[in-house]
Amino acid sequence: MAQSLIDINRMPRGGPDASCLDRLLETDRLEYLDRDDVDQRVKTSVIRALEWTGERFGNTERFAEVALAEVADVADPRILELGAGHGGLSRKLLDWHPTASLTVTDVDEESVAAMAAGELGEHPRVTVRQMDATAIDAADGAFDLAVFALSFHHLAPAQAARVFAEGTRVAATLVIIDLPRPTSPLHLVRLATMLPFAPLLPFVHDGVISSLRTYSPSALRALAEYADPAIELDLRSGLLSPQVVVARRGDAAASLPKGQR
Ligand SMILES: C[S@@+](CC[C@H](N)C(=O)[O-])C[C@H]1O[C@@H](n2cnc3c(N)ncnc32)[C@H](O)[C@@H]1O
Repeated sequence: MAQSLIDINRMPRGGPDASCLDRLLETDRLEYLDRDDVDQRVKTSVIRALEWTGERFGNTERFAEVALAEVADVADPRILELGAGHGGLSRKLLDWHPTASLTVTDVDEESVAAMAAGELGEHPRVTVRQMDATAIDAADGAFDLAVFALSFHHLAPAQAARVFAEGTRVAATLVIIDLPRPTSPLHLVRLATMLPFAPLLPFVHDGVISSLRTYSPSALRALAEYADPAIELDLRSGLLSPQVVVARRGDAAASLPKGQR
């Protein structure tokens, strides 16, 4: 580990060099999804809203394209979805890839039970199970790809760094997809449009907190470096579109064609 634990835990979500304003635009407050004192129906409504918006606005398809591009050269890819929530991404991957096998997981027991009770639970190429992305219960190299979508911001820095370490231990490639962290003025505008609805709609409440907890590209680099300096990142961030982080261990990255490193 390159930096001390205390440093990484104090790192702003905007990264080590975040501006004063950016440092104000973050919170330790938890989303409903992360709280034990919140009615399960509220959490389920957030998960359902995520599933619906993912389908409606095309994110589920976009994320599936990103994931499958990373295993395009693997005949029968073994894919691990972490923090799957509703399982929409895994269902899309199964639809689109005729031989991929999927291990579909989440740390939340209720979400895992709901996914296991649905279509995924009966699929012959699927295993549904509970799993913590910060302590993955799988052997080194067990997967060709691990994917963690719209979940990374839930984790405090030291835990988030664990995802880099664990994801690249169990899979040749780790893909993290998360919200973009806009520049501070744009961030203020985004928050201002959401805040009036936050007390009314649990999905927006969690969206505001997500926005404040999202890591910037420089924070993502610092977290990966902290996890293991041998982890190499390919970071693709848009202004408003989700940011995509492709992480590999240096030795795995070196075996790829130059264009894909
Ligand atoms: C905002 S939801 C995203 C669900 C889905 N991936 C999507 O794209 O809509 C975040 C999910 O991350 C899960 N999560 C939070 N911490 C986790 C951890 N340490 N390991 C695995 N999953 C976690 C939550 O239970 C929740 O299902």
